[in-house]
Amino acid sequence: MIYPIVAYGDNVLRKEAEDFPEGSEDLTQLVENMFETMYNANGVGLAAPQIGMSHRIFVIDSTIMGDEEDKAKGVKRAFINPEIVDEYGNEWSFEEGCLSIPDVHAEILRPEKLTINYFDELWNEHEEEFDGLTARVIQHEYDHLEGVLFTDYVKGLKKQMLRSKLVGISKGNVDVGYRMKFPLKK
Ligand code: NI
Repeated sequence: MIYPIVAYGDNVLRKEAEDFPEGSEDLTQLVENMFETMYNANGVGLAAPQIGMSHRIFVIDSTIMGDEEDKAKGVKRAFINPEIVDEYGNEWSFEEGCLSIPDVHAEILRPEKLTINYFDELWNEHEEEFDGLTARVIQHEYDHLEGVLFTDYVKGLKKQMLRSKLVGISKGNVDVGYRMKFPLKK
């Protein structure tokens, strides 16, 4: 099932998401639907708040990003109730985008590596280290669970230039190839 993706400006994208309750039977189905929704929009990551659910879940597929080496190192994974334990390594810049903020891209600095504790969709617990593009996607999606968007890191003149575009997106003034829910659309 493909969910509509919530656009910039919706309050759900600004809330700190709650842990997903263990024992909820619909977890594997939800994860499957989130992957379907992400692939339908040609995304590499999707967090539950982006489908209007304020729960600590995101899915990523970094096997479809970058060059052959990046793809080989990539992972397709669901992260349930994740906690980033540590971030380290040199900060590096990468041009990010977001399915909730179509047509907007910006170079964002983030640390190269991280260690994350999480559960998979079968409730097995993992603690794992990731780097490169996979770490980048995890950091972006993890931010969604904290109510943070990549555009929050854009400052100064660039942010001023972005503002009207962001308002336009929340009103639905954007041409996008997947179904969205716009908070200010009349
Ligand atoms: Ni995003």
